[in-house]
Amino acid sequence: MGNTFLNLAILIIFHFSMPTFSMKLTTILTDQSALLALKDHVIHDPENVLTTNWSTSAPVCNWFGVSCGSKHRRVTALNLTGLGLVGTLPPHLGNLSFLSLLYVRNNSFYGGLPVQLSNLRRLKYLSFGNNSFSGEIPSWLGSLTELRTLFLYQNNFKGVMPFSLAYLSKLEVLYLFENQVSGSIPSTIFNISSLQEIDLSYNMLSGSIPSVPRDLLLLEVIDFTTNNLTGHIPKDMFDHLPNLKGLHWSLNLLSGRIPASLFKCKELQVLSLAFNQMEGSLPIEIGNFSQLQDIYIGRNHFEGEIPKQFVNLTLLRLFDCSHGNFTGIIPHEIGNLNNLNWLNLAFNNIAGSIPPQLFNISTLRMISLDTNQLSGHLPSNMEELYLDFNHLADSIPMYISNASQLTLLDVSSNYFSGSIPDNLGNLRNLKILNLASNNLTSSGMSFLFSLTNCRVLEKFLFHSNPFISGELPRVVGNLSSSLEEFSASSCNIRGSIPNEIGNLSHLINIELGGNKLIGQVPTTIGGLEEL
Ligand SMILES: *[C@@H]1O[C@H](CO)[C@@H](O)[C@H](O)[C@H]1NC(C)=O
Ligand SMILES: *[C@@H]1O[C@H](CO)[C@@H](O)[C@H](O)[C@H]1NC(C)=O
Ligand SMILES: *[C@@H]1O[C@H](CO)[C@@H](O)[C@H](O)[C@H]1NC(C)=O
Ligand SMILES: *[C@@H]1O[C@H](CO)[C@@H](O)[C@H](O)[C@H]1NC(C)=O
Ligand SMILES: *[C@@H]1O[C@H](CO)[C@@H](O)[C@H](O)[C@H]1NC(C)=O
Ligand SMILES: *[C@@H]1O[C@H](CO)[C@@H](O)[C@H](O)[C@H]1NC(C)=O
Ligand SMILES: *[C@@H]1O[C@H](CO)[C@@H](O)[C@H](O)[C@H]1NC(C)=O
Ligand SMILES: *[C@@H]1O[C@H](CO)[C@@H](O)[C@H](O)[C@H]1NC(C)=O
Ligand SMILES: *[C@@H]1O[C@H](CO)[C@@H](O)[C@H](O)[C@H]1NC(C)=O
Ligand SMILES: *[C@@H]1O[C@H](CO)[C@@H](O)[C@H](O)[C@H]1NC(C)=O
Ligand SMILES: *[C@@H]1O[C@H](CO)[C@@H](O)[C@H](O)[C@H]1NC(C)=O
Ligand SMILES: *[C@@H]1O[C@H](CO)[C@@H](O)[C@H](O)[C@H]1NC(C)=O
Repeated sequence: MGNTFLNLAILIIFHFSMPTFSMKLTTILTDQSALLALKDHVIHDPENVLTTNWSTSAPVCNWFGVSCGSKHRRVTALNLTGLGLVGTLPPHLGNLSFLSLLYVRNNSFYGGLPVQLSNLRRLKYLSFGNNSFSGEIPSWLGSLTELRTLFLYQNNFKGVMPFSLAYLSKLEVLYLFENQVSGSIPSTIFNISSLQEIDLSYNMLSGSIPSVPRDLLLLEVIDFTTNNLTGHIPKDMFDHLPNLKGLHWSLNLLSGRIPASLFKCKELQVLSLAFNQMEGSLPIEIGNFSQLQDIYIGRNHFEGEIPKQFVNLTLLRLFDCSHGNFTGIIPHEIGNLNNLNWLNLAFNNIAGSIPPQLFNISTLRMISLDTNQLSGHLPSNMEELYLDFNHLADSIPMYISNASQLTLLDVSSNYFSGSIPDNLGNLRNLKILNLASNNLTSSGMSFLFSLTNCRVLEKFLFHSNPFISGELPRVVGNLSSSLEEFSASSCNIRGSIPNEIGNLSHLINIELGGNKLIGQVPTTIGGLEEL
């Protein structure tokens, strides 16, 4: 009787003074039962870690992934990273009142986050990243005011970003990337002065970019890639970000100009604004970013000259301002950029000649200059070379076959004349060869012989070269068995179609029309046939 009364009294006290009492009343046994509840909620444990290791015959503090405080011997960290666990999180985890680190990333937990986790006021490091959690991002996360890192990335969280996240005044890293979060970014998120990195990429966020009201001396990376953010970048956005290194805002709907305040970010390494609706010019101050490595600003409505100052960016690796309305020339000082490996200036109005110095940059792996107003001759040394739709003339030099890493060579729609080099077969890695729409010649189609050495060739186009004459040699049947597309239409080829063409077993599309050929493409070829 007395006992029951006592229990009842404790229960009542417990009920009415919960926070303080619950702390006092919990013990390592509470921690143990919370972890056992988690074990119960795991329905698949492929490495049998919990099944075999989390046994009541061993002290909780020795369990795999569990760490305890040295004095109070209570569970302070639970790290179950990458165990392939499948299951849900039980509310009991909210009883691990000394927990400061909770990592369950790289597993397959699903369902929502239990509200009881909001009791874990000592939590500093929280990662639910790369699981299958769903539901809304709970607003109670904003009450975990000791949090330094909050990782919710790669899950199925929906709904909005709770405003309360801006109350996490000690937060250093916030990763919400690859979820389905919508609505706008909390307007006061940049009031968190401890912020170092914020990654909200690959969500469905809309609205505008919040302004930065105070110095964020530690903030280095803002990644908003692939959302639906709109509006202008606030003019004073960069007044308080002296250590910003990565600005990743591509694939949004941002408009307006690049604000002048950007040039206060002297540490900037990555400027990524591609696929937006921005306008105006690329300011000459771009040359002041001595740390800049990547300029990725294509697919906007930028115009004006490409500032020649960019040639002073000696750390530059990537320069992509394709699909704009840029004018100007490619300065020969571009040869100074000896870290450059990606140059894409395609679809602009850049004029002048291609400076030969460009081809002295040994790091260059991709260059795309197609659809500009370039003129002059052609040199080479890289993996992918797109020069189509320019005004390049003269012949394709023999030395192009020295560019042994080349996987793609596209010189289509230029004014190339002269003979097609007979040594293109030295480009053993070539997958795509496009020589179409030029005035190239080849006597007896001799260039075809060497191309039989290109065993990975998938696409081979040389149509619309009216001076290519002669018969289609039988050796055409020895071209790569991976060849899927072959186009020789609108040349001056005559004679009969060799039966050997039927050996090209993977051919999907063959075009031979506009020649003086007789006969038929053998019906062994599976796909579309056009004569
Ligand atoms: C459980 O795992 C821990 C940490 O790996 C290890 O030290 C301990 O011996 C294991 N205990 C059992 C019973 O397997
Ligand atoms: C968590 O566990 C993973 C895998 O065992 C380990 O790589 C990582 O360093 C651990 N992290 C912490 C903070 O203990
Ligand atoms: C811990 O949490 C659960 C659910 O939140 C509760 O039912 C349980 O009794 C709690 N207390 C202890 C001491 O395990
Ligand atoms: C998650 O798994 C991937 C692939 O297994 C691994 O590369 C990555 O380092 C893991 N992440 C963590 C945080 O353990
Ligand atoms: C996510 O975790 C799984 C293990 O559950 C791992 O195989 C995968 O590589 C991880 N993905 C990433 C991007 O880390
Ligand atoms: C910004 O943070 C400070 C504390 O660092 C706080 O006093 C202030 O209320 C916050 N402002 C907003 C708008 O949240
Ligand atoms: C952006 O909005 C459009 C139209 O509402 C939608 O189709 C698209 O999926 C959205 N994209 C992202 C990344 O949210
Ligand atoms: C950029 O550098 C030039 C010198 O190259 C200097 O005159 C100018 O003041 C700098 N601009 C900024 C915003 O620092
Ligand atoms: C380039 O300018 C023309 C003429 O003003 C405009 O029609 C076109 O949309 C612009 N292109 C881009 C990519 O902004
Ligand atoms: C590059 O920098 C040097 C030294 O700072 C300067 O003299 C030169 O004018 C700059 N070149 C361009 C094109 O801005
Ligand atoms: C290319 O580099 C070589 C060797 O460094 C040098 O002799 C040559 O002048 C350079 N060519 C151009 C066009 O800069
Ligand atoms: C090909 O040569 C003809 C005649 O010399 C010329 O009219 C035509 O513009 C040239 N076409 C190309 C694409 O160079």
